Amino acid sequence: MTDLRFRGAVAPLRRPDLTLPRSVDALVARLRPEAPLHCLRPAAMEGAARAFLAAFPGETLYAVKCNPEPAVLRALWRGGVRRFDCASEGEVRLVRNMFAEAAIHFMHPVKSRSAIREAWQRHGVRDFVLDSAEELAKILAETGGGDQLGLVVRLALPKGGAMYDLSGKFGATPADAVALLRAARPHAATLGVSFHVGSQCLDPSAYARAIALAAQVIREAGVTVDLLDVGGGFPVAYPDVVPPPLSAFMAAIRAAVAAEGLSGLELWAEPGRALVAGGTSVVLQVQHRRRDTLFVNDGVYGALSDAGVPGFRFPVRLLRQSDAPLVAFSFFGPTCDSADHMKGPFLLPADAAEGDWIEVGQLGAYGAALRTAFNGFDRAGIAEVADPPLLETPGYELGKAA
Ligand SMILES: Cc1ncc(COP(=O)(O)O)c(C=O)c1O
Repeated sequence: MTDLRFRGAVAPLRRPDLTLPRSVDALVARLRPEAPLHCLRPAAMEGAARAFLAAFPGETLYAVKCNPEPAVLRALWRGGVRRFDCASEGEVRLVRNMFAEAAIHFMHPVKSRSAIREAWQRHGVRDFVLDSAEELAKILAETGGGDQLGLVVRLALPKGGAMYDLSGKFGATPADAVALLRAARPHAATLGVSFHVGSQCLDPSAYARAIALAAQVIREAGVTVDLLDVGGGFPVAYPDVVPPPLSAFMAAIRAAVAAEGLSGLELWAEPGRALVAGGTSVVLQVQHRRRDTLFVNDGVYGALSDAGVPGFRFPVRLLRQSDAPLVAFSFFGPTCDSADHMKGPFLLPADAAEGDWIEVGQLGAYGAALRTAFNGFDRAGIAEVADPPLLETPGYELGKAA
């Protein structure tokens, strides 16, 4: 089994051992893993990418932060993704090293000067996001401007209903965005407006409201704007969460773009979660049981960060036959921190016990990417499997790879 050390999270990792069995059950029977085992489903990610690209009426940029694992990036590339939303020089280098022809867009509104310089000079990055006059000045100083520079003004949105609110940190107020568009226009070969409705957004109308706000800002600025970037946020299924189908989000976006008179603009989207969530499960081993709490070998400092404070529930299954009724379990992770707790509930057979393996699905998004080596628990294996995801998300079925 390939050992991963996620401290070098964006460093290229060794490829999974492709001689291993291609099903989770067979793998676990063969390896009997005592460290968490990441089971990648490249076909699912390739399929999700195909489905999104086919449905979205514009250019799709994969948000690399969501899962920078090279096998994931390769699967998305096979699915047709050619553009990448990067937020650090590490991500820019990773993508450029893997794909010489990729288009890389630097979509973090606050960048170091050296990151801007390196992206521009060494990696051919031409598009940069900003949400302040200071960042505009920084980008102009470090790139020298020129006739290829793309500038995208990130617009702040009011707090929305997404499971992961992203409204507090980045984005210019409408008034500031108007001023920034005017200031940026003379320097920009391409000028855009972007926003992010928040991650795991279940409401298609959130995109329509954001597009209406962007249109208002564009009208007020009175300058030509070339592109509109509707960000990420597209949701996936979790237990008891069935999101509206992808087509409902696309319909809302198309309708709002037309209604606001923005049809002449190039459209971009930056999905992360929607392309990769179903693409990884993690097999955990139970090390101890205390009543309805299972002590497992991965937790919130590992791939299950979202099961901690954010309270995401994930699909689970016990990897052995059991006729016991399903009961609600919570998990403790392996570290000594009592915050390493995942309340779930995770529905598993009542006889789950020490030594059992549990597969946790939908961990491809913000799972492996958020791992740490806290308390020395940074060992994990990786394998590629042909199993379908533990949960299917409506709208992505058509994109299944052949
Ligand atoms: C600028 C930006 N774009 C795209 C994404 C991806 O969002 P999601 O995974 O919700 O699609 C994020 C996530 O934080 C982001 O910050």
